[in-house]
Amino acid sequence: MTTSEEVLDLIFESLQDATARRTPFTLGYLGTVGIDGGPRVRAVILRRFDPVRSRIMFATDSRSEKVPEIRRSPRVALTMSDDQRAVQLRVEGHATLVDDTDERVSVWETLGRHSRGLYSSPAVPGTPVRERPEVFDDDATAFDRFAWVGVELERLDWLDLSAPRHARWRFVRRDGGWSGQSVVP
Ligand SMILES: Cc1cc2nc3c(=O)[nH]c(=O)nc-3n(C[C@H](O)[C@H](O)[C@H](O)COP(=O)(O)O)c2cc1C
Repeated sequence: MTTSEEVLDLIFESLQDATARRTPFTLGYLGTVGIDGGPRVRAVILRRFDPVRSRIMFATDSRSEKVPEIRRSPRVALTMSDDQRAVQLRVEGHATLVDDTDERVSVWETLGRHSRGLYSSPAVPGTPVRERPEVFDDDATAFDRFAWVGVELERLDWLDLSAPRHARWRFVRRDGGWSGQSVVP
């Protein structure tokens, strides 16, 4: 009989693994509430996981639409799935934009040239492409556009379809601890 502690350990291991190397969980689908109130979902790379704070981190462009969406409605959802293992993890949490310059600098320094280059274009994501030679701003300007976002996890939903008897677990975080329960898939 599987216990909720075993499932929680598996979830945390899967998230740690996803940020240490490329796994199917590395690419998550982030759901936000759009400025018009409608749903928005897009892929983001999970870059760090802090098991103590139950916090997932991703990088984005501060000019992208998801940033004002998060500022306005910090409640977000993220879904990861692994087709090989036949598992899905859905999480809900509270997103915050990290202001701490030291933390942002330490992450910025780990980003590859390609990733940093994405922030150096003055062209704003989601705006029409203009037919003119592309110019690039300096590294300091690119860094200003780099947003480092944390999602503090509050609810987890783990679905495992790998065995004939499907399993689903729900976890809620209360007072810093997780309580989990097996639910009907
Ligand atoms: C494989 C893949 C990885 C991506 N990773 C990120 C990411 O880590 N951060 C990000 O902001 N956008 C990432 N994107 C782009 C987003 O899915 C999205 O198109 C972009 O961020 C604009 O979203 P928005 O207009 O809703 O803000 C990725 C897209 C793909 C296909």
